[in-house]
Amino acid sequence: MQTVFSGIQPSGILTLGNYLGALKHFSSMQHDYDSYFCIVDQHAITVPQERLKLRQQIRSLAALYLASGIDPTKATLFIQSEVPAHAQLGWMMQCLSYIGELERMTQFKDKSAGKDGVSSALLTYPPLMAADILLYQTTIVPVGEDQKQHLELARNLAERFNNKYGEVFTIPEVQIPKVGARIMSLNDPTKKMSKSNPQPKSYISLLDEPKTIEKKLKSAVTDSDGTIRFDPENKPAVSNLLSIFSLCTDESIPSLEERYRDSGYGPFKSDLAEAVIHTLEPVQKRYYDLINSSELDDILDAGAEKAAKKANKTLKKAENAIGLGRKK
Ligand code: TYM
Repeated sequence: MQTVFSGIQPSGILTLGNYLGALKHFSSMQHDYDSYFCIVDQHAITVPQERLKLRQQIRSLAALYLASGIDPTKATLFIQSEVPAHAQLGWMMQCLSYIGELERMTQFKDKSAGKDGVSSALLTYPPLMAADILLYQTTIVPVGEDQKQHLELARNLAERFNNKYGEVFTIPEVQIPKVGARIMSLNDPTKKMSKSNPQPKSYISLLDEPKTIEKKLKSAVTDSDGTIRFDPENKPAVSNLLSIFSLCTDESIPSLEERYRDSGYGPFKSDLAEAVIHTLEPVQKRYYDLINSSELDDILDAGAEKAAKKANKTLKKAENAIGLGRKK
C-alpha cells in the first residue's frame, strides 16, 4: 500500500484556504493509502509563539483534523514533537542542505524580508519538512500550491542522500488539487488566504460563526466590471470567490458562471455565504463535540506510538547509512 503524509502548522485557527487546499482532500485519501497526518508544532516555533496559545492551537488543530473527517481507525494522527525522530532526521537533512538553496525558498524570503532577529530555524525549516515526509517512506504528499517548492527540495534531499549513502528513502510525489490549490485573501486577491494574517477580514476561519462568514463574504473585494466570470488574470477576486463556491458545492465553475450570469455581485455573494456556512456547519459541530473530550488525547497517544514505530525504523536505517553512533 502506498503512503500519504501531510502536515499543518498549529499557528492559528485554520482558514477556509487550509480546508479547501489540503484538509478536505485528506479524508478521502485515508481509505486508499497508509496515511499519516501531523500537527507540525516544531515548525510553528520557527516564529515566536505564546506557550499557552500554542498548546491550545495544537489541540484545536487535532480536533479540526478529526472534525473534517480523519478517521483514527484508518489514518494515523499525531503531534510532531511527540515523535523525536522528526527532529533527529531533520538534523541529518540540514547537514545535507546547502545554505544557498535554503535562501532561495520563496517562503523564507517572504517571512524574513525586512525583519530583524529572524531565527535560523526559519531558514532550516524545509529540511525538517523533508524529514517529516521521508521518515514514513511517503509516496504522496497532498498540499496546497505554496508548499510546492518545499516538496521539490524534499525530493532533492532524498535523492542526494540515496546517491551519497545508499537507497534509504522513497522519493515522494507532490499532489496539488486542480481547483483550490491557492485560495486567495478576501481583501487582497494578490495574496494567499493565511491563518497568520493579522486582518480577520482577509480570511474565513473554520470556526467563524455563520453571521461572521456572511459579513466577511459580503465585504470581500470584487471589481467594478460587475460580471461573474472565471478569469484569474483580469478578475482575480471574483475568480477566487468562484473557486470557493465550486469547491463548497461541487458545482462546476462554468455552471456557476452560467447560473449567475445576470445576477450581479450581491445575490452571488449571499448564495456563496450560504454554501460556505453549509460546508462548515458539520465540521464545527464535530469540532465542539471533540475539543474537550478525553477521546482526543487517546487518539493522539495512539497516533504518536504508531508513527514513532514506523519513523524509528527509517531513522535507524539513515543513521546506519551515514555511520552515526554504533552499528545496531
Ligand atoms: P500550513 O500550515 O501553512 O498549511 C497547511 C496546508 O494548507 C495549505 N494551504 C492552502 N491551500 C490553499 N489555499 C491557501 N490559501 C492555503 N494556505 C495554506 C498548505 O499548502 C498546506 O498543504 N510547511 C507546511 C506544513 C508541513 C508539511 C510537512 C506539509 C510541515 N511538514 C510535510 C506537508 C508535508 C505549512 O506550513 O503548511
